[in-house]
Amino acid sequence: MKILVTGADGQLGRCLQDRLRMTAHDGLALNRSQLDITDRQSVEAAVVRFRPDVIVNAAAYTAVDRAESEPEVVRRINAEAVGYLAEAANKVGALLVQVSTDYVFDGRTIRPYRESDPVNPLNVYGASKLAGEECAAGANRYFVVRAAWLFSEYGNNFLKSMLKLADGRETLQVVVDQIGTPTYAGDLAVSIIRLAEAEAASGIYNYSGGRACSWFEFSQAIFACLGKLRPEWRLPEVLPVTAAEYSSVASRPAYTVLDDAKLRACLPQSTGDWELAIESLMPVLAE
Ligand SMILES: NC(=O)c1ccc[n+]([C@@H]2O[C@H](COP(=O)([O-])OP(=O)(O)OC[C@H]3O[C@@H](n4cnc5c(N)ncnc54)[C@H](OP(=O)(O)O)[C@@H]3O)[C@@H](O)[C@H]2O)c1
Repeated sequence: MKILVTGADGQLGRCLQDRLRMTAHDGLALNRSQLDITDRQSVEAAVVRFRPDVIVNAAAYTAVDRAESEPEVVRRINAEAVGYLAEAANKVGALLVQVSTDYVFDGRTIRPYRESDPVNPLNVYGASKLAGEECAAGANRYFVVRAAWLFSEYGNNFLKSMLKLADGRETLQVVVDQIGTPTYAGDLAVSIIRLAEAEAASGIYNYSGGRACSWFEFSQAIFACLGKLRPEWRLPEVLPVTAAEYSSVASRPAYTVLDDAKLRACLPQSTGDWELAIESLMPVLAE
């Protein structure tokens, strides 16, 4: 299959490129300077030129706190541009894979969210991604893959922030009352490629990166893994704080575990394993 990846320099974009190289697919990955997805004509031209079977949109505005101060920019990238990709996909008969987020939910529940559960984003980023889901549905064939708490060896993410802060800090405060599922972007990339290969029906699919936990537990797992690898390092003590005490610019949902039963029905091995992923990334990241 011919697979076009947008947002090629992001965490997911880079993981998709790595995983696509291990397949027989003909991949074309374009970063923001090669294809700005908010430029409708450029999107159409790139898609008509390459004639992909699948377009995976890994481009997004992902700075959740900054998004609060520039909602129009966020909406153009996370929603309007997805509409341009859907139009272009329809021109060449391609499948559009749009990646979305657990932040479409308000987190006021106690059981994992199903695809059909009511949405109610609490912040500008979540609202823009929800609008993006609606724009993706303009494609004749589409998957919206919802994922949460992405990390990888690339870009900026929670795992890499923890490793940076590990150096020289006595203590570290981490939010304990937000529960979700860390997701290794490499695991997500594999499932996106497999889903594109499968004859699945258009619609929304929740992706799960493994065991649900709080940010606090995630940080503890990271430092436990680092401690095993570098016993000589003095690591910070992680102290639990509430989201209210931490007070970030954007509100975030308290509970956004995603039920991935629908995806597992198509791809039985699709659930990721973030614990395994941090173990395998740590030797490289803790150099
Ligand atoms: N990160 C998370 O925790 C998380 C959680 C749930 C869902 N997701 C979703 O997962 C997907 C991948 O996220 P990620 O973590 O890989 O994001 P990322 O690392 O922030 O990468 C996004 C990429 O998109 C590019 N981009 C931004 N605007 C663009 C435009 N107009 N045209 C083309 N490219 C553009 C960015 O380029 P610049 O760097 O130059 O701006 C960046 O390279 C996104 O849809 C995101 O919403 C992420």
